[in-house]
Parts: sequence; C-alpha cells; structure tokens
Amino acid sequence: MEEIQCCVNSCERPLDKTYWDNQYQSNAIGWDLGEVSPPIKNYINTLQNNNISILIPGCGNTYEAEYLLQQGFTDITVIDIAPTLVKKLQQKFSSSKNINVILGDFFEHNGKYDLIIEQTFFCALPPTLRQKYVYKMHKLLKNDGIMVGLLFNRTFEVNPPFGGSKKEYEALFKNAFIYKQFDICNNSALPRTNTELFVEFKKNNAVIVDLYGFEGITCNDCMNKVSQKFAVLPNVVNVSMSTNYAEVLIVSKDKILQQDLQNEIAYDAKYFIKKLNS
Ligand SMILES: C[S@@+](CC[C@H](N)C(=O)[O-])C[C@H]1O[C@@H](n2cnc3c(N)ncnc32)[C@H](O)[C@@H]1O
Repeated sequence: MEEIQCCVNSCERPLDKTYWDNQYQSNAIGWDLGEVSPPIKNYINTLQNNNISILIPGCGNTYEAEYLLQQGFTDITVIDIAPTLVKKLQQKFSSSKNINVILGDFFEHNGKYDLIIEQTFFCALPPTLRQKYVYKMHKLLKNDGIMVGLLFNRTFEVNPPFGGSKKEYEALFKNAFIYKQFDICNNSALPRTNTELFVEFKKNNAVIVDLYGFEGITCNDCMNKVSQKFAVLPNVVNVSMSTNYAEVLIVSKDKILQQDLQNEIAYDAKYFIKKLNS
C-alpha cells in the first residue's frame, strides 16, 4: 500500500502502548509527514484568538503543535500513548510554557478544549473504538468547541490505518456534531492527495451523548433491529453501534433512562445494556 501505509507490523497484536512504542523504537513511522499537514496549517492560519485551548490527541511528532507555537498560540496540549515518543517531545518542548506534553491514553484523558485537532489518530484506532471516540471528543470539547482535521476517504488492505467513507462518518458523528466543513480535501499532503476529507465539526451543545456497553448481539441483523428499536424512542436523534456489537452510542435531546432502553430489548433475554460513561 503506497506511501500512505501506516505501520510495518501486522496488527494481530492489540494496538496498545507496546505496539505504538515499538513503532517509534524501530522508527517504523510511515505515517509521519515530516511537516505540518497543509490543510491543518491553512486552518490554523484562519484562527483569530491565540489563547484558545487546543488538544492534539495521538500527536506523534506533532509538527502541528510546533507550528501553533511558532504562531504564538499559548495553550496547547498534546497527548500520546507511546513513551519513547513522548519522552522525546517532552525534551524538545521543555523550554516552552505554552505546551503541555502528556503521556497517556486519549480515552482516559480529562479536560475541556476549544479546539481538538485530528491528524491520523482516528484511523490508527481499531474501528471498534469509533463510537467511543465520538463520545470522548464530544466530552472533551467545551460548548461550541470544534473538532478539526482529516479523515481518510478510502479503505486500506493493511491496517492500521483503518479507513472509511463520508457516509460512514456522517452516520457516526450525526447530531453529536454540527458539520461546518465535510468535504474532499483539496490541499492534502502529496501522498494523501484525493484520499482525505477535511472536517470541521462543531460540538452540538443541545444534545446528550452517552456510551453504553451491550451484551448479546452476534450478527448485523440483530444489531440493526436493536438500533432501530432505540432510534425510534422519543428524543433519540442518533444510534450507532460498534462493529463488535459491544458498545452503542446514543445521542438524545433529553435524558434517556437505561431501563427504557432495556425494556426495548426485553424481547431477547440475552440482551443487556449498561451505561459506560459517568
Ligand atoms: C498513525 S500515528 C499518527 C501520529 C500523528 N498524529 C501524525 O499524524 O503524525 C497514531 C498515533 O496515535 C498514538 N495513539 C494510539 N492510540 C492512542 C491512544 N489510545 N491514546 C493516545 N495516543 C494514541 C500512537 O502512539 C501514534 O503516535
């Protein structure tokens, strides 16, 4: 898979801290552009307020953060799970008080940000985590906060990266975010020409986004049936289930009771739903 290929190792092993650290230790970082991604650079150039709080998850070598610092931004947080990388970044940025470099898991990170920059992080995650990603993004953004960046508009034979399509992402982020920009990117870095979507998603403050664990589903037909049952409940404005049927994201205009969801699936004694977020 041409230059876009993400990793050299096969992904039978979990995509965890050890996996990613090995990639950095062996310098197998085929995803690394070596420069700030052009569409993100352009977007940064449009920002008016240098004091907004910005998060870059799965930051890698984070040329984006470097560029933000050069432009005078004062409140940058970058987080990555790979210790070898983070140690290097902490040394690199040790003299700047405007950037906080965190070693950690994005899904365990707490904070509130005006802007979150997505750059080859979503595609590095197992697709089973996509519902959790939407939940976490929504939670980490302040009201009216923005998620901006790039999502692949193609699939890959070797993973990661894990690709997708506009249709899939539309269904995934629906109503949790308001789509301000969601187009084929026309200024991608050369190796990614015509393969990316530029997204600028604004947090929808008017909804509640909840993540639930689900037990008992084993096929797509059952998933569709359960999703349909939830989707027609009053106030529910989106339902999205993970590809391993273990998690379901529910976006609603008002609080939904777990018991009401359980009642909807009472027709099958194997089914069990439990809220995961606190
Ligand atoms: C494909 S690389 C992209 C790096 C960088 N964004 C770039 O574009 O060069 C994915 C990055 O996400 C990090 N990562 C993977 N899972 C993570 C998680 N759960 N929390 C934080 N970082 C994670 C990896 O260590 C790796 O640096």
